[in-house]
Amino acid sequence: MSLRLMVTGCNGQLGKAIYQLTKDDEAYEYIGSDVPELDITDSEAIIEYVRKIKPDVIINCAAATNVDGCEKEEDKAFRINALGPRNLAVAATEADAKLVHISTDYVFPGDGDTPRRETDPTGPKSAYGRTKAAGEEFVKQFAKKWFIIRTAWLYGDGKNFVRTMLRLSETHDTISVVDDQLGNPTSALELARAVLKLAPTQCYGLYHGTCEGICSWADLTEEIFRIKGIGTKVERISSAEYKKRNPESADRPSFSALEKMMFRLNLDYRFKDWKEALEEYLREDQ
Ligand SMILES: NC(=O)c1ccc[n+]([C@@H]2O[C@H](COP(=O)([O-])OP(=O)(O)OC[C@H]3O[C@@H](n4cnc5c(N)ncnc54)[C@H](OP(=O)(O)O)[C@@H]3O)[C@@H](O)[C@H]2O)c1
Repeated sequence: MSLRLMVTGCNGQLGKAIYQLTKDDEAYEYIGSDVPELDITDSEAIIEYVRKIKPDVIINCAAATNVDGCEKEEDKAFRINALGPRNLAVAATEADAKLVHISTDYVFPGDGDTPRRETDPTGPKSAYGRTKAAGEEFVKQFAKKWFIIRTAWLYGDGKNFVRTMLRLSETHDTISVVDDQLGNPTSALELARAVLKLAPTQCYGLYHGTCEGICSWADLTEEIFRIKGIGTKVERISSAEYKKRNPESADRPSFSALEKMMFRLNLDYRFKDWKEALEEYLREDQ
């Protein structure tokens, strides 16, 4: 019997990656939705839709992901990143469906120098992080069969850092990139593989889901250019310098790497190294 997946925010990077992996696989039925046909902030519409679709698993890929935009409009971000997952959690419980909800490294303060575990205390420093942390709490409170996967530095078919660097390289000989913020670049395809690994199980709980290996934005940019054979130089700058040049931008975590204890212990599952996943992406995407 196939697994009936209801994917919200299906036009986003992760939603598309899940579609790519499931579209030709009889093990899955993929039912995608996005705004305007299904807005996760509309609690009644969600209940009705879930009653009609009868999914085995709801995968919430919908979110307000523009970090600076969330800073400017926190109420709007809260509706999407916190009340949206609350609505899905309530509907999932009523339909006895599982809920896979995607969260972020921004729920942590982003300091320190060791990768955060799932059990570490949170402490968001931005509006995006606060609203996503509230979304996690609602999922825990109102869903019965839930998985939360925190990911980071995501790139796929959409607007993302990797594509921005490639675009800038077309018109710049040198690009200034921050080199004192460290994290785990993660391809949407790798995250989608992990979601599909987890969804059929009953190993409920909170997971960290990122590619292996830690680097800075500057390291990531150099690797993109190396793989693509692009000659553009990377000028390494500090976060303080970046902020001076872009005073409107929200503060970013200086260290946001995540330890993937739950994937390792529950499923003996490992993500690809970030360089390998990046090569796969650049081979297939560009
Ligand atoms: N991108 C990253 O670097 C990153 C890092 C850490 C965690 N995450 C998390 O990973 C998940 C997937 O991210 P992503 O990069 O795939 O996001 P994305 O590309 O921005 O896609 C999100 C999708 O959700 C849609 N959406 C927004 N509001 C909605 C609503 N009220 N109802 C239904 N759909 C709505 C968006 O539509 P519009 O485009 O029209 O708004 C978009 O199609 C999110 O939970 C995000 O918080 C992402």
